[in-house]
Amino acid sequence: MGRIIAIVNQKGGVGKTTTAVNLSAGLAMAGHSALLIDMDPQASATSGVGIRLTAEEASTYDVLLGQSTAETALKKTMLPNLQAIGASQDLIGAEIELVNVEQREQRLKTAITSLRWRYEFIVIDCPPSLGLVTLNALTSADSLLIPVQCEYYALEGLTALISTIGLVREQLNQEIDIEGLLLTMYDGRNTLCRQVAADIREHFGEKVFQAVVPRNVRLSESPSYGLPALLYDPSSKGALAYAELAQEVAAKHATKGKAATNDV
Ligand SMILES: Nc1ncnc2c1ncn2[C@@H]1O[C@H](COP(=O)(O)OP(=O)(O)OP(=O)(O)O)[C@@H](O)[C@H]1O
Ligand SMILES: [Mg+2]
Repeated sequence: MGRIIAIVNQKGGVGKTTTAVNLSAGLAMAGHSALLIDMDPQASATSGVGIRLTAEEASTYDVLLGQSTAETALKKTMLPNLQAIGASQDLIGAEIELVNVEQREQRLKTAITSLRWRYEFIVIDCPPSLGLVTLNALTSADSLLIPVQCEYYALEGLTALISTIGLVREQLNQEIDIEGLLLTMYDGRNTLCRQVAADIREHFGEKVFQAVVPRNVRLSESPSYGLPALLYDPSSKGALAYAELAQEVAAKHATKGKAATNDV
């Protein structure tokens, strides 16, 4: 069964999409079968792995609204181990169209159930909001990966997110766990940035990944080439940080898998 990891933070521009693209690519390049699901109408994760959907091709919108199966919406990427379900602008309307739909928070979870066995990891890129589309991702997910930009208001935003996760756990998904917090756009020369990073480590302890993503221009350039940074410039500091993150995530679950087998 694939582990479903949603990349979430209602704050905009903190590195969610960059993380979704490069974590899924990093897992795929390390030999794990991975699926990237784009839940943001901006569709940056979709274009970030070189996919451009035509109007006829099924997207996450069609999957959420039951107009396509998840299977039909699967697309290949440049990496043999990575497939994707792309987003389109229609997803903006889904927030409203889903309101009166039965089981409106469970649509994605139900739709991807049949795909789970095919992948070791399913990574979902969420939009910067906590609306119905994000709730569908949170309901589907085993765990959440929260990118945190090292800046002054970072902790404030996290409090709101953690309380939403609490509500989701009570009402929609009891199993949901925090995979980890990822420090992004880190600049060690900036005192405030170092301070915020230290505060987050103090607050969240082991929940913070060892991998830290530096501010790195290769990470912002690579999307315009439709490539994950791990392919665009594998030796760049940004790419190396994401390779390390992928390794941390994979190692955590490989150990769990072994422990579970030993228990039997
Ligand atoms: N570590 C980094 N170093 C430099 N630029 C980065 C880094 N991470 C992300 N960026 C750039 O910052 C911008 C925001 O990043 P990204 O799109 O990943 O954030 P997001 O949280 O998905 O945003 P949104 O909330 O709008 O979906 C993008 O232009 C991206 O290329
Ligand atoms: Mg994004």
